[in-house]
Amino acid sequence: MSARKKLTINDLFAKVAAGQPITWLTCYDYPTAYLQEQAGVDMILVGDSLGMTMLGYDSTLPVTMDDMVRHTAAVRRGAPTAWVIGDMPYMSYQPSVETAIRSAGRLMAETGCDSVKLEGGAEMADRIAGIVSAGIPVMGHLGLTPQSASALGGFRLQGKGAAQAKKIVDDAKALEEAGAYCILLELVPDRVCQLITERAQHCIIMSLGSGPHAHGQLLIYHDAFGLYPRFKPRMAKVFADAGQVIRQGLDQYVAEVTAKTFPAPENYFGMPDAQYDELIRLLAE
Ligand code: KIV
Repeated sequence: MSARKKLTINDLFAKVAAGQPITWLTCYDYPTAYLQEQAGVDMILVGDSLGMTMLGYDSTLPVTMDDMVRHTAAVRRGAPTAWVIGDMPYMSYQPSVETAIRSAGRLMAETGCDSVKLEGGAEMADRIAGIVSAGIPVMGHLGLTPQSASALGGFRLQGKGAAQAKKIVDDAKALEEAGAYCILLELVPDRVCQLITERAQHCIIMSLGSGPHAHGQLLIYHDAFGLYPRFKPRMAKVFADAGQVIRQGLDQYVAEVTAKTFPAPENYFGMPDAQYDELIRLLAE
């Protein structure tokens, strides 16, 4: 395991104050969390995007709180020092402030995550304030908010026009005033992200496909490492094509088993002659 000290919310704000970009990736499982921890990734989001990347759904809407609890706990075990954020799934916070507080509390208590994230603008300010009043750090999420993709007209750039951009800027202020320590801006124009970042006073602004001017960057792990087969969004850069490497390995596995070249003697265990002979004798009794 790495020797890094557990990251705290103060460490994140210290990075912002020092002008050091915060690194952030999604993650849904123990072995990947272990690798991200070794690489020194600052923040890990256990996103409800796991519905698409891990479970093969077309959207994030079918993801349940039980799904989030299981995956977030696995990530926590693999990444003990990263700042881990558990995503609040569809309808775990929208119905009421009380629902939001109970859901956030469950995610924190049952997974050991450091913070929760929820989607939405000023209309979610009371949910954020409620969760913060329960002592739980909350992150907001504006721009393309996948749980509302249907209402937004699909997975597309948000805030392209001035009026829509103004609403996003106003929403960011409302979330900060409600107590959000961090806001993720997903797929908004770079200048809108820059404006929000410059105006933020006590809030970390993170970018997913929203340009370089935020306090840090998020990528969906499966997009960045060639692991999502359906499409690759423009905002993602493929840092290593692990999907291709795995595919080559699979082809080789199938070929070697078919050709009877796997397993080789170093891949299995023999039995001493005396024990084998005794076994045959026992079987004959
Ligand atoms: O679920 C998730 O991974 C997210 C990202 C799309 C930001 O919310």
